[in-house]
Amino acid sequence: MTRWALQPSGRGSFAGIKSSDSIADQTAAAREYLTGMTAEGLRHYPISSFDATPDGIGNATYFPPFFRTDLAAPWGSSGAFEKLDDFNNLVYTVALDPTSLLTKDGRAFLNFLAGPVGDEIAERYETVLRATHIIPDATTSDAIKPFVTANATGMAAGSPTGPVGLRVDESKLQALRAYTDQLQSPAAPAGLNPEKVALGEQIFMMPRAAGGANCIACHTAPDKAVESFVRPLEQLYRPYSNNLLTLLDRSDKGITNIQKTLAGADPNYDLSLVVLDSSIRGEPVSAPGSKPGYAKPLLLDLNAKDDFLHDGSVGGATAAAGLNKLLDPARGTESPHPFYFPGLSATGELQVGRIWAMVMAVPGVKR
Ligand code: HEC
Repeated sequence: MTRWALQPSGRGSFAGIKSSDSIADQTAAAREYLTGMTAEGLRHYPISSFDATPDGIGNATYFPPFFRTDLAAPWGSSGAFEKLDDFNNLVYTVALDPTSLLTKDGRAFLNFLAGPVGDEIAERYETVLRATHIIPDATTSDAIKPFVTANATGMAAGSPTGPVGLRVDESKLQALRAYTDQLQSPAAPAGLNPEKVALGEQIFMMPRAAGGANCIACHTAPDKAVESFVRPLEQLYRPYSNNLLTLLDRSDKGITNIQKTLAGADPNYDLSLVVLDSSIRGEPVSAPGSKPGYAKPLLLDLNAKDDFLHDGSVGGATAAAGLNKLLDPARGTESPHPFYFPGLSATGELQVGRIWAMVMAVPGVKR
């Protein structure tokens, strides 16, 4: 058997899993990877996260709420997909069946995104898919066929409706969407203090000049549709442009360059946007040429998790602890999502706790 090391797609460095090891050792290594932590104390592969982008970068991201999908858009943490049907098509045809990346159109998609590095990404996928016998030995590289049942679109590589030239049956995409559109959000926790809830709602909704935190500048009330445009990354991660490394100029393709920030308190915050971002559909319209940022999640059912932001990089032992951390001005201006109340000079824990009560409670109040 060939000796190869599976380089996982989660976060942080990991030695890999050697196919030449015994099954018991491979299982132990897989378990260590799936449950283990990076040096920074983050899980390589957080529970309920997935690395959906074939970009050669380990960047597992959390699933957004998969209920009331009628309210949420765009899709993918980068907002690269305007429509849920397009995102679901990507999941069916690429994320769940990476053999599609090794077809002519699949390779063209990787080259569209990553230029010559696309060949290397394809090679790595092929190595892993052959070593795990997903692709039979007898199949030559130019004869690899995806497993998914889908129609050829004939569209240009990278088109959001069929990035690897494949589209699953339209009626199935519509049926799946109809189902997730009507799934209701879990109820807010019982026993919240109604005064704090009301105060929290004001803080969330009111402009700063009127004593609020103006969260509504970006977010919407939880029973309203999320604004679909994507804000430039500089707004979500202020130091973003200070120390930018450009790896590939893609201006000829009309999409943003492959670039990586090295600045600020969490330089890994841009990992999911380095290669695939919503510039493939012309975002951000308001700031052409700027690197798009992250899609805004539905702020529903927040008490069901303890890690926040798409990569779960801000968290705590409980939902309350995680949200207190997210909204704690002590994280500073150089951190991801630096929006605090009343401002960076704030020291009162009580205020942070109030925002927490509000964020948890608004869904219940609104319904
Ligand atoms: C400039 C726009 C903007 C402002 C202002 C803003 N947010 Fe956000 N918020 C976002 C975006 C975009 C995300 C997703 C970021 C990510 O996933 O990395 C987000 C994520 C969140 C999350 C995490 C949700 C999850 O599921 O992990 C919470 C909670 C949140 N915001 C609450 C607030 C509150 C409370 C305020 C006001 C104090 C606020 N936001 C102000 C844009 C904004």
